[in-house]
Amino acid sequence: MKPFLQTLRGEALGTPPLWLMRQAGRYLPEYRALRQKAKGFVDFCFSPELAIEATLQPIRRYGFDAAILFADILLVPHALGQTVSFVEGEGPRFEPIRDAAGLKRLSQDKAANVLAPVMATVAGVAAALPPETALIGFAGAPWTVATYMVEGRGGTDHGEIRKLAWTQPEVFAGIVDHLVEATSAYLIAQVDAGAEALQIFDTWAGSVPAGLFETAVIRPTARIVAAVRAHRPDVPIIGFPRGAASHLAAYAKGTGVNGIGVDHMTDLVFAAASVPANVTLQGNLDPLLLLEGGAVMEAETRKILAAMDGRPFLFNLGHGVTPPTPPEHVAKLVDIVRGRI
Ligand code: CP3
Repeated sequence: MKPFLQTLRGEALGTPPLWLMRQAGRYLPEYRALRQKAKGFVDFCFSPELAIEATLQPIRRYGFDAAILFADILLVPHALGQTVSFVEGEGPRFEPIRDAAGLKRLSQDKAANVLAPVMATVAGVAAALPPETALIGFAGAPWTVATYMVEGRGGTDHGEIRKLAWTQPEVFAGIVDHLVEATSAYLIAQVDAGAEALQIFDTWAGSVPAGLFETAVIRPTARIVAAVRAHRPDVPIIGFPRGAASHLAAYAKGTGVNGIGVDHMTDLVFAAASVPANVTLQGNLDPLLLLEGGAVMEAETRKILAAMDGRPFLFNLGHGVTPPTPPEHVAKLVDIVRGRI
């Protein structure tokens, strides 16, 4: 079995498998060249030929143990009828949903059709990967995707979505229901096209008020996990509830995920003590250390490896690779984790 999948089954390997969140993207010169070939970022994601190539670029360069499908978490609201645009240098923009009238603009009708090109990407990547490399499919968790849908953009304090979740719970629940339905179908379709594991990104789980964590994070994620398992019981699922360390135990228990991505703000030993022993942990080098490189990166990487020795563990960052990261630092990190230096 592929080492990445063995680890997600709960086996502790001597050398942990390795992949990086945002391993494809702007830090790679070959990605920047490829990106020129499509006008908008959404068009890029929906062009299987380009997205297959973007997925494979970091595998060729570094030989990671897993490839992650090249797409974006914001394709799901786009497919529900809330058109996303990516403004150069500014990030995603939506016409925000703030009330019942806004909610009515969402529809499942075209979702599967709009997302169909992503399945062509998955199938193309699956056919091209080296035999030892696993393919990860992904989607955003409802809370994180809803933050963009309600705020209309990134970079806010999530005040609008917190207000909506507290004061118009039925509108919030309506958005979540749409996301659970579309995301479950989307992930099942990715598995059918060749994805061997799934990651659910909850990048903004840390901004959920404690009193809403169960309703906004755990239950919607659990519904997606259950829907995927009902159709494809064997596919391992990793959750990434970033910034939510105080809820890790409840998250692991309540969602039933096979693996948990740990952010760099959270101590891995604390995370290990918070979740059942058969839950695989993944993480958690600070992406800033990958950017900086040098002795601190090396020392912190070795600390992580030592702390997780003997436990089912996937090496990763605590969040994604940042665009200014020098590609040679990534090569060095791979050599350290592989035990070559
Ligand atoms: O290697 C990979 O990880 C593959 C693909 C991938 C992308 N986005 C490509 C992308 C994945 C898994 C994502 C997930 C994603 N997208 C998340 C969750 C993970 C995280 O980083 O927190 C979030 C919150 C998004 C939403 C998103 N997409 C934003 C806020 C932005 C703009 C900011 C930015 O980083 O540019 C994007 C755009 C985006 N998604 C790019 C890439 C490579 C850059 C756009 C470009 O290349 O033109």
